[in-house]
Amino acid sequence: MAEFTLPKNSKIKPGKKYSNANGAKNKRTFGVYRWDPDSGENPRLDSFEINTDNCGPMVLDALIYIKNEIDPSLAFRRSCREGICGSCAMNINGTNTLACTKYITDAKDTIPVYPLPHMEVRKDLVSDLTHFYAQYASIKPWIQTQTPAPPDRERLQSKEDREKLDGLYECILCACCSTACPSYWWNSDRYLGPAILLQAYRWIVDSRDEHTGERLDDLEDPFRLYRCHTIMNCTNTCPKGLNPAKSIAEIKKLLVTRTV
Ligand code: SF4
Ligand code: SF4
Ligand code: FES
Repeated sequence: MAEFTLPKNSKIKPGKKYSNANGAKNKRTFGVYRWDPDSGENPRLDSFEINTDNCGPMVLDALIYIKNEIDPSLAFRRSCREGICGSCAMNINGTNTLACTKYITDAKDTIPVYPLPHMEVRKDLVSDLTHFYAQYASIKPWIQTQTPAPPDRERLQSKEDREKLDGLYECILCACCSTACPSYWWNSDRYLGPAILLQAYRWIVDSRDEHTGERLDDLEDPFRLYRCHTIMNCTNTCPKGLNPAKSIAEIKKLLVTRTV
């Protein structure tokens, strides 16, 4: 039966309050989503007030400070801390973004920090990206050729053809766009979502790939591609300034005008 309210065990309860700002001039409070699947308890929102002079300028710096100095059980992903690996994607102050490139001072007052929306949560701020990565694998994100023998040197590309990959190769697969897309929220079982479609387009327009026809065939589907209704949340939220909605529109155009 359809359930129109959150199940009781999903409701977010008020959590613990910590402060080690000690009358500091520059302090900030972070409201951090916490959930531990092993505890059997509801999710809660913990509040951490910290002296921001004790950490770096980014939200990720504050989370690392909180984990190191206040609560070592706080779980979140991070690696590069410079907007390259995509692992620190989360919802900060109501927007999906990268914690390592988001300035603490961009938000006023208490800064809410949640995991990416509409994804299953492993623990605290760690979303389960298993399905997202399986969808990525489904578009075969590698060069496919029909030429029988491999060349004895690298496959060359003209400068103009290389430029067609600009705005695509920079995608770090952080999933901020897909998890901001209402169509993906409701149909992620079958709709590929903006991140994966941008990646699919990246291989379709690569002049070295010889499977363009098969790639287009694979996307010509009412769910895999056509669940995009051009709502544009994806492009608005991309922390790398990319435009997945445009890639989706380009794929649709290619399907109408295809000669392969
Ligand atoms: S298009 Fe942008 S938001 Fe989407 S996965 Fe790539 S980098 Fe992240
Ligand atoms: S433009 Fe398409 S992919 Fe982007 S948010 Fe809207 S429906 Fe989702
Ligand atoms: S830690 Fe790598 S993108 Fe933020």
